Amino acid sequence: MKKITIAIDGYSSSGKSTMAKQLAKKIGYVYVDSGAMYRATTLYALRHGMTSRETGVDTAALVAALPDIHISFTLAPDETQHTLLNGEDVEKEIRGMEVSGWVSPVAVIPEVRHYLVKLQQSYGNDKGIVMDGRDIGTTVFPDAEMKVFVQASPEVRARRRYEELIEKGTPSDYDAVLANIKERDHIDTTRKESPLRKAEDAFVLDNDNLSREEQMEVLVKLFDEKTRG
Ligand code: CDP
Repeated sequence: MKKITIAIDGYSSSGKSTMAKQLAKKIGYVYVDSGAMYRATTLYALRHGMTSRETGVDTAALVAALPDIHISFTLAPDETQHTLLNGEDVEKEIRGMEVSGWVSPVAVIPEVRHYLVKLQQSYGNDKGIVMDGRDIGTTVFPDAEMKVFVQASPEVRARRRYEELIEKGTPSDYDAVLANIKERDHIDTTRKESPLRKAEDAFVLDNDNLSREEQMEVLVKLFDEKTRG
């Protein structure tokens, strides 16, 4: 069967990553979490004092440091994918609220986007890849054979993210999670450089009322259609 490229885009905490991971596992494709790459870059900026409440992100310093930021992925013993920043496993840290609070301002910087998009495109050379993010179907892989745009209401998304954080043992506040989601939606959809928007040829999946199993059924059916013949 011919291998294709699968782009899954959508709003913050819409369940894209879970869905993309499950799909990749089921069809034997490589999964790449592009958001983790923006998150790891943000962590680098935080650790190197490149953020300030008063003046925001020190864009010049971060852009100058890009060649020193190496992001890769590894499979942990429990078979979950972990993100490495310059060889260090930062998976837990990049999911916390501090990184979540800074990631969208970092992701608006055009040089950061160019740097990460290039890296993302290099992962897709051999196809057989599922990548999730905000601009995968529009900018990273505009020729992807299968594109999915995932949406759900902010409240449903905040509830999911809140429960995920609690489950991981990170103390959290639902209202703060909801506020962060709304703020990131706003920044992600209004930024100049490849804003979050549905690609014209993307299939819209509204998962407010879908279970994980139902959503997988929809995706696998779509995948079968795209790879048949
Ligand atoms: O936590 P959530 O699943 O909502 O987001 P994520 O996929 O981890 O991405 C975190 C942030 O990175 C987003 O809010 C965007 O600001 C940015 N991002 C982006 O600009 N482009 C991508 N392809 C992926 C993420």
